[in-house]
Amino acid sequence: MKNRREFVQTALAGAAGLAFSRYAGISAAAAQGLDSRVEILLDESIGTISANLYGHFTEHLGGTIYDGVWVGPKSKIPNIDGIRKDLVDQMRKIKAPVVRYPGGCFADSYDWRDGIGPSEKRPRRTNFWMEAENDKSPASHKYEPNEFGTNEFVHFCKLIGAEPYLAANVRSLPASEFYRWVEYCNSPAGSTTLAEERAKSGSAQPYNVRYWGVGNESWGCGGNFTPQEYAAEFRRYSAWVPHYGQSLSLIASGPNSDDWNWTRGFFEEMVRKGPAQFGGIYGWALHHYAWNLSRGRTTDWEKGKGDAIQFDPVDWYEILGEGERVEGLILGHWQVMGEFDRQHRVKLVVDEWGPWYRPGSEATPGNILEQTPTLRDAVFSAMTLDIFNRHASKLHMANCAQLINCLNSLYLAHEDRFVVTPVGHMFEMYAGHQGGASLRTIFSAPSVQYDRDGKPATFWGLNGSASLHGKDLLVTVVNPHTTQARETEVTIRGGSANSAMAVTLSHADIRARNTFDNREAVIPQKKACLIRNGMVVHTFPAASVTALSIRLT
Ligand code: AHR
Repeated sequence: MKNRREFVQTALAGAAGLAFSRYAGISAAAAQGLDSRVEILLDESIGTISANLYGHFTEHLGGTIYDGVWVGPKSKIPNIDGIRKDLVDQMRKIKAPVVRYPGGCFADSYDWRDGIGPSEKRPRRTNFWMEAENDKSPASHKYEPNEFGTNEFVHFCKLIGAEPYLAANVRSLPASEFYRWVEYCNSPAGSTTLAEERAKSGSAQPYNVRYWGVGNESWGCGGNFTPQEYAAEFRRYSAWVPHYGQSLSLIASGPNSDDWNWTRGFFEEMVRKGPAQFGGIYGWALHHYAWNLSRGRTTDWEKGKGDAIQFDPVDWYEILGEGERVEGLILGHWQVMGEFDRQHRVKLVVDEWGPWYRPGSEATPGNILEQTPTLRDAVFSAMTLDIFNRHASKLHMANCAQLINCLNSLYLAHEDRFVVTPVGHMFEMYAGHQGGASLRTIFSAPSVQYDRDGKPATFWGLNGSASLHGKDLLVTVVNPHTTQARETEVTIRGGSANSAMAVTLSHADIRARNTFDNREAVIPQKKACLIRNGMVVHTFPAASVTALSIRLT
């Protein structure tokens, strides 16, 4: 039986869319009358939605960096200083706030110095993921060429208007190398030898990197520590980190899903040194992947996974159920953290999340961990972002794993081909939540009933989140039912709607996906909504994600 911790170890040891036709096709009977209701409570703010909840993650893994983000300055593929131009254009559209880099597991094997200085002088190293690569994988995925490093990553972030979030190596480099990386990035122009090295690479001015991860998955690939050992390492790595006038937000490596012991052990150990320790931790990074589609038959990490593109409605509900667990994980870890950090100075960061399927749906054979997202993954991701919005006061940041050519990718690219996946479209629809006041919202709809291998199972009927910017209300709604639309009344307690526009992502085929050859199979559709007595009346199609932009009177 293999679990995720063992997976990383053993992998290394060896191994046009919906169009309007859909709306036209909804008969009153299918829609079941006005069966659902959404109530938005304008006076009940849950907290401000940190823009960083809409963050991303890029690792030197498979085709994510090489071919995904980086094509090189000499490439014929349209690029900006070597960075894929299509990617930059799309990420500007979604207002990407933050990008995590260089891993993932890769981070704890990486020497940042290999990735600076003149490109032709940079060393070639064995990539952390080398043993998991296969015959079809290009050499650059196995032997890290270091063409893309800190300078290129920070430049990428600048181009898209995002903050960099760098993960430091705790497993295989000393703390002094962490301080030096901070020095390289943030020391003032001309101040240190490293500042001069940075200037030679084109940036005399500091990068002012604020977000720093102190290790990654330190319970596994990041060092196999016990929580107590990691707490001691965290204290050592985070003590007296040079600041250079830039306040640093340090993120500690948190639990894998429901590993309560990791959270309890770390916080208990930290508080032994006194509660002031919590002032030095900006975020506690939870990772949660939804992967088990075995319907309770196994907990084996390899055997339990399902297919990314061949699935039935039960698999659809099952993966949503696995993803929805993140809400309980936020609540559970938050509670444990609060037992020690009484003032909740440390907030949660979910810096890896998404569904993880078995290999087989790669758009580019040889790209390990690449999967082709379908409508199901857009619905999954929308549901996840709604959960984050609903817990805005507990969360500082979240990073979808991973941006391009990997797990829950927003984009797929190979050579000169590029496509926005349904997940990418969904991120654009949700971008307006960033910085808004999250409002308490009540959803009432008939629940989904389905047959889970002969036993009755249920899933909620409608869910979502709402946020307010002045008089602009954004309500995002997921209808998970694979066949039934939901005709719904959206009421605004404490206000009324003047006008509303709906953008919907859906498809008659729940397995629909965008590919290099059919790039617009699943694309958002826009439609004005009916306003009745200050309420919005709207039918949420089956298997859909909707963003309602409501202008209040
Ligand atoms: O996202 C892929 C991998 O999953 C990351 O490298 C690691 O942190 C996690 O186990």
